[in-house]
Amino acid sequence: MENNKIKIVFATGNPHKLFEINEISKGSGIEFVLPPAGFNPVETGTTFEQNSYIKAFEAAKLSGNIALADDSGLCVEALNGEPGIHSARYDDTPQKRIDKLLANLAPFGNRKAKFVCAMTLVDSNGKTINKETGECYGEIANVQSGHHGFGYDPIFIVEGTKTTMAEMSEEEKNKISHRSIALNKMITFIKNNLM
Ligand code: IMP
Repeated sequence: MENNKIKIVFATGNPHKLFEINEISKGSGIEFVLPPAGFNPVETGTTFEQNSYIKAFEAAKLSGNIALADDSGLCVEALNGEPGIHSARYDDTPQKRIDKLLANLAPFGNRKAKFVCAMTLVDSNGKTINKETGECYGEIANVQSGHHGFGYDPIFIVEGTKTTMAEMSEEEKNKISHRSIALNKMITFIKNNLM
């Protein structure tokens, strides 16, 4: 039996993220679309999960539809999990954020890190329909390398490989990323419960 198609608002203002999400969910029958104009959530949560709920509820309220949000970031073990939920605001530009992280980590031998992604699916009344998480393990490179992806990709060496996420193709990254792990679990839930 053929599945129904479903449109779900994806609570982001970042077109690269929407592109990644739609690449990962290709063939699932789900199309993720941007929230309406005016989407401007204030991320006051203290965890990835809380912030993903805040974003999803804001987008669901604005659109009147169910909405999915992710909140993600890079957690570095030797820096007590920083930049964590502050990943996007660690410094002014993506390059400055990379430089700051490399400088802060320089005194440490332990370069273990993980990308974390929390996803929450919320209805327009604020009820959580489902939540999932994904983690991707690796370590921080000494120098940046690669031009694909975004954010901290050029300094994140994926566990079991010698390449940074920014040296991987979009397709390779989407097989192992924190976001794809969380999203694939969410897609399974949506297919089993909402389609
Ligand atoms: P969010 O949009 O509030 O979830 O912020 C996530 C921030 O974490 C981004 O702006 C990046 O700095 C970082 N981040 C999350 N996922 C990735 C990734 O897949 N690659 C590189 N950086 C990421």
